[in-house]
Amino acid sequence: MNETFGNVPASRTGISTTPAHRAFFKAIPKVELHCHLLGAVRHETFIALAEKSHAPIERAEIDAFYTRGEKPVGVLRVLRALDEYLLTDADDLRRITYEYLEDAAAHNVRHAEFFWNPTGTVRVSKIEYGDAQAGIVAAIRDASRDFGMSALLIPSIDREADPDEAVTLVEWMKSHRADEVAGIGVDYRENDRPPELFWKAYRNAREAGFRTTAHAGEFGMPWRNVETAVELLKVDRVDHGYTIVDNPALAAKYAASGLVFTVVPTNSYYLRTLPPEKWAELHPIRRMPGLGLKIHPNTDDPALHKVNPSEAWELMFSHFGFGISDLRGFMLNGIDGAWVGNVTRDAWRVQWLNEFDALAAQLP
Ligand code: ADE
Ligand code: ZN
Repeated sequence: MNETFGNVPASRTGISTTPAHRAFFKAIPKVELHCHLLGAVRHETFIALAEKSHAPIERAEIDAFYTRGEKPVGVLRVLRALDEYLLTDADDLRRITYEYLEDAAAHNVRHAEFFWNPTGTVRVSKIEYGDAQAGIVAAIRDASRDFGMSALLIPSIDREADPDEAVTLVEWMKSHRADEVAGIGVDYRENDRPPELFWKAYRNAREAGFRTTAHAGEFGMPWRNVETAVELLKVDRVDHGYTIVDNPALAAKYAASGLVFTVVPTNSYYLRTLPPEKWAELHPIRRMPGLGLKIHPNTDDPALHKVNPSEAWELMFSHFGFGISDLRGFMLNGIDGAWVGNVTRDAWRVQWLNEFDALAAQLP
């Protein structure tokens, strides 16, 4: 078992990561485009929120959520527990957002775009959409002032809920416009919940000027879900998308179009289903750049998966066998995939490449 990455088995690639490499992975400027707010709640904050709300969750149970290795309950169920018992007002959301951004900034994340599921907040936690969004946006502004970073919120469709809830979510977003609220996503369990169910919410969001992304091709769900997300929902980027490797012609098409895929090296589906000694070798992420696809590594649920942004980048090197020049390309892919204006994008390309190259030149 590798000490650093929790339930990620040790690398079999033979590539050794030196302390200088670790410092490099931390120091490189980063965007993070795929992180779920509730998956980023600090362990101590989870405990504090549970105490504050008198949640019927034992301390040992909470500790087990944050333990390395196989979890007694899946991550998605922990997120549901947060909605049900722990988050009781907009200040809770403001707190967890600020802490998430502080943790990301400590790994040189200069720009974060992160998911939050309003349906759970409104229907289960009973916090009104406008109040909840305002709490998160206030934290983004505080973090921008305190850590010199930027961040955008992506209200995300709970695909296990009724598709009409997704349409309602877009209506909420339209009536609470804020510059920090950039677009929509869709997440939770993809099995039996294909992207086409949510065509109306995506159409309405696009018509209202929001950007779009979607989790697709996760949990071993077929490449057709990736195709549907792109062709029908017309997403600007794809979250996960791994099963695209099963359709090289489609991959070639999306390689040519420059579509960005936000990938997650610690994604639990492959850790669960691939043989431990071979998981990194067989992982589809390894094959995606070879098909010409633009990928960018992310943490997804950093606190619950026990991974930070620097480690997500390190895994690409230590476990998936990518070189420093590949990582340079991934950094550019992240900048290309970010929902920022062209002036910012062009400036980051120049400045960050300079920084990256200067840091890389110091590697042994
Ligand atoms: N919510 C949090 N993490 C998720 C993931 N990896 N897939 C779908 N929904 C999620
Ligand atoms: Zn995700």
